[in-house]
Amino acid sequence: MEVKKINFEVAVYASADELNEADKALLLEARKTTEAAYAPYSNFHVGAVAQMANGDTVSGTNQENASYPVGICAERVLLSVAATQYPGIGIDTLAISYHNKNGESNHPVSPCGICRQSLAEYEERTHQSIRVILGGMSGEVYILQKAGELLPLSFTSGDLKK
Ligand code: THU
Repeated sequence: MEVKKINFEVAVYASADELNEADKALLLEARKTTEAAYAPYSNFHVGAVAQMANGDTVSGTNQENASYPVGICAERVLLSVAATQYPGIGIDTLAISYHNKNGESNHPVSPCGICRQSLAEYEERTHQSIRVILGGMSGEVYILQKAGELLPLSFTSGDLKK
């Protein structure tokens, strides 16, 4: 028997002001993008902005529905737009922010499990790691080097072929 240790590093910044200019601009854009969320049921407004490998940006927000399971997260809205408008192009950096109108928005929150799976496959299909910036409307900011690290031992297309 062998024990495998799976870990990854997260860079922790005290606030957006500690980020380099480009990362800070992307996070500020994600914060602003939360305003386009449609979240009348949860009041949890999520905004995501991606810096594509070709320099363009793409954004996404969560879109809820009176039939709750129909709602879709900001990250998967963004990935659908990116894949449609820029087929085959990777994402260099993805900033995700949120505005919780029922509570605090002063710490980073991570993508949900379904979005982690979608992000991991986007990396796989574009052969490019996605740097992820996580931060609320204020407070600490996390930067991860590869979205797929959020989903260790993930199920991938390769498993279907074995
Ligand atoms: N949500 C996202 O948009 N992204 C996440 O990664 C976490 C959750 C949305 C889904 C729902 O509209 C609201 O936040 C509350 O769960």
